[in-house]
Amino acid sequence: MRSVGWYNGKVRMIDQRLLPSEFRQVDYDDYHDVAQAIRAMVVRGAPAIGAAAGFGMALAARQSQSRDREGLLAELRAAGDVLCAARPTAVNLSWAVTRLLRRAERESYPAAIPDVLLAEAQALADEDVEVNKRLGIHGAALIRDGDTILHHCNTGALATVDYGTALGVIRTAHGQGKRIHVLVDETRPRLQGARLTAWELQQESIPFTLIADNAAGHFMRTGQVNIVLVGSDRTAANGDVANKIGTYKLAVVARANGIPFYPCVPTSTVDLSLPTGDDIPIEERAADEVTAIAYQGRPAAPEGVRVANPAFDVTPHAYVTGIVTENGIAYPPFDVSLRQLVEFSRED
Ligand code: MRU
Repeated sequence: MRSVGWYNGKVRMIDQRLLPSEFRQVDYDDYHDVAQAIRAMVVRGAPAIGAAAGFGMALAARQSQSRDREGLLAELRAAGDVLCAARPTAVNLSWAVTRLLRRAERESYPAAIPDVLLAEAQALADEDVEVNKRLGIHGAALIRDGDTILHHCNTGALATVDYGTALGVIRTAHGQGKRIHVLVDETRPRLQGARLTAWELQQESIPFTLIADNAAGHFMRTGQVNIVLVGSDRTAANGDVANKIGTYKLAVVARANGIPFYPCVPTSTVDLSLPTGDDIPIEERAADEVTAIAYQGRPAAPEGVRVANPAFDVTPHAYVTGIVTENGIAYPPFDVSLRQLVEFSRED
């Protein structure tokens, strides 16, 4: 089951806001609605929103009334701007939109562009699944029989088109017969760990324990974690990694306790145009994501409190042991190794 795909002329997504209590799929036939679904996190996770934006561009081509090539390309560029503006941190959005625009620009016959873009969006989605499986094999080599893995946010089939990045590594290691255990950070404020990762691991019968985010340091200091695996929304050329808020704290504590810390990052998530993570835009989300939580059925915070809600943080590369990609694992110095692995993909 794919988190996002194309069915009967529409973009279909699993509504991830409703999981785990309800499994519902929603269809969109207007790219503006796809952008809104990305903003509202119906679909979420860097690779999944990249694929959704790809299908959004295919919708935009079908929605266009332009008869001439230049008019259609101008509409597609405008649609691309709307889709890219939906969420700022994950580079997969602009990566996917740029790929679709370049494909449209190569087509000289305007009437062919809607079908050509749909085929390209479909190829992008299919490649995402294949890339995650390759990444999973590289990453699984780091996992030993009996390991306990600490995991943050949701990086699974839901966060990608299918299979997952860090969770794909876990899935591969489990499939290889390794007896592993996963400590699942609940991942405040939107609880992607508790709601989505726990749901996926349960479906796959992979042993796990759900922990409050605040417990992660305790488990690391008391020798109960062998490796930390996370995803990324954008990784800079020097190996600085933007990922779900709370990742930085895990990396620092992991380093303090001699525990390896590996972000699992498809090359589509690497932004070589940014020298360091300081240039990565960090999304600030609505205050009610933090205050909505209830304590024994009552609001957890007084009404009207001031809230800060950055959705991501940046982990400096000094805390990163290695970066797992579909082309292999990059080790320091990342500005050399990561570029080699990314360029290996882009030369294909
Ligand atoms: O805000 P989200 O849920 O979209 O954030 C998702 C993450 O931070 C993931 O770790 C990241 O996108 C990588 S998922 C393969």
